[in-house]
Amino acid sequence: MSYDLIRRLLFCLPEEWAHAFVLASLDAAAVLPALLGQRPVADPVRVMGLNFPHRVGLAAGLDKNADHLRGLAALGFAFIEVGTVTPKAQPGNPSPRLFRLPAAQALINRMGFNNLGLDHLVRRVEAAQYAGILGINIGKNAATPVEQALQDYRIGLERVYPLASYIVLNISSPNTQGLRSLQAVEALRALLEPLKERQDQLATQHGRYVPLVVKVAPDLSAEEVADMADCLLRCRVDAVAATNTTISRPGLDGHERAQEKGGLSGAPLKPLALAQTRLWVEHLQGRLPLIGVGGILQGEDAAERVAAGADLVQLYTGLIYTGPRLIRTASAAIAALKQAH
Ligand SMILES: Cc1cc2nc3c(=O)[nH]c(=O)nc-3n(C[C@H](O)[C@H](O)[C@H](O)COP(=O)(O)O)c2cc1C
Repeated sequence: MSYDLIRRLLFCLPEEWAHAFVLASLDAAAVLPALLGQRPVADPVRVMGLNFPHRVGLAAGLDKNADHLRGLAALGFAFIEVGTVTPKAQPGNPSPRLFRLPAAQALINRMGFNNLGLDHLVRRVEAAQYAGILGINIGKNAATPVEQALQDYRIGLERVYPLASYIVLNISSPNTQGLRSLQAVEALRALLEPLKERQDQLATQHGRYVPLVVKVAPDLSAEEVADMADCLLRCRVDAVAATNTTISRPGLDGHERAQEKGGLSGAPLKPLALAQTRLWVEHLQGRLPLIGVGGILQGEDAAERVAAGADLVQLYTGLIYTGPRLIRTASAAIAALKQAH
């Protein structure tokens, strides 16, 4: 069965059901033969001190609880990012909270960090014995005031440190009130300095340095990017992931679902995420690696992001519209860049 047909069937289901069905099927390996396609193209690269088999990974949010690591690993990702996980389990926002915009190849979501909490995620990661590169994306509970966010990130950092290849601080989801205010330089420094200190202690304690990545929004001005880049460099963060979903609605005039509240991902995000990648690259000047994410739906989108300066790329919405073959086409297009030079 082709992915086009699978997608047509899946799109008959409500959005969250389709997600859950695919993830459950992956675990059962029931649909693997149809989904697997060809293996990704080997294209080893060292980023953040980690050896990646190629540059294409899974973005956060698809496997929030690390319940599907084995099935996802079988698809051939070079790295998998699970979460966002918060210290305590929380239900997220009321449904409906995930919307397909098929004509635009986009999604709008206002999930609000629905997840089963750190205890569950830690148990699942331990049980999966996944040997590949694992990013764990951490956030704060909705009930924790943003002024006390540090407390939640510190708990997350400490709990996932022994299990993660790298840890992402998600301060850019539009669906948790006040979260993005942590991107303002003063708040950012107040968050990062103590977390970096704790990371140093944990590195000594565990005898292993686990890189810290900051995930940023695509809705920042050029000035905000410049200030943040300066702050991240000063705070010795290990990488930037750009970008999360956007609160803007580029190219969606007149679309019946465009006014749903939440973050937009997929094709309409691509120009914005690409432009933000270029801004970050300009300010970072190779001093920090960059993970490019947002609107990668085809191999060429992935190659374009790497050509713009991203060291790695991640997929989410593209998997839903293009299917898992995108992992191979993206890795092939990126590998072909090198041959072209
Ligand atoms: C339904 C959904 C849930 C998401 N949840 C998270 C999340 O929990 N944490 C996070 O950092 N990003 C989350 N994201 C953002 C993605 O990781 C990614 O940054 C964004 O969707 C842009 O990439 P894309 O256009 O390839 O989807 C989510 C995206 C979607 C569509």
